[in-house]
Amino acid sequence: MKKAILIYASKHHGNTYKLAKAISEKYEIAMIDATKESIVDLQEYEVIGFASGIDFGKFYEEIENFAEANLPIKKEVFFLYTCAMERKGFTNSIREIALKKDAIILGEYGCKGYNTYGPWKVIGGMNKKHPTEVEVKSAVEFFDKIYGLEFVEVF
Ligand SMILES: Cc1cc2nc3c(=O)[nH]c(=O)nc-3n(C[C@H](O)[C@H](O)[C@H](O)COP(=O)(O)O)c2cc1C
Repeated sequence: MKKAILIYASKHHGNTYKLAKAISEKYEIAMIDATKESIVDLQEYEVIGFASGIDFGKFYEEIENFAEANLPIKKEVFFLYTCAMERKGFTNSIREIALKKDAIILGEYGCKGYNTYGPWKVIGGMNKKHPTEVEVKSAVEFFDKIYGLEFVEVF
């Protein structure tokens, strides 16, 4: 069993934390809050996940800084995020950081998250119920595919 860890920053409403927590509970994977810890030795982990809300089109600065500072070379990495409006490219910047460290990218999962930034606050926010139970389940299923499948025994 590969040793895995999840690095997260979920500063706005804890939306992304819900995805990360569900995965961590199913697979008993440790989690690190990148807004609280900045230097951690990750060498013992083979699979490293980065989970973040989206802030002006990319992962939170704390996650990017954490990856720059702590991601060892040649690790398997994956990305989780929640955002106000789904679109491509939210992982471009964090992918670049990972690729500079010769990471093997396993994939990404993203979905909508409750957002009260700026004018949305006045009208009570957008995506109020997100991530939904289905979205959280889909995040776990994503991880089942990239990580859990190795446990399926074929007779
Ligand atoms: C300062 C700020 C900037 C944001 N920028 C974007 C953005 O560029 N694109 C987007 O889709 N959502 C954006 N959002 C919405 C958040 O990414 C979304 O609410 C996310 O679910 C927050 O995740 P968290 O609760 O895990 O921090 C922004 C939110 C804040 C507070």
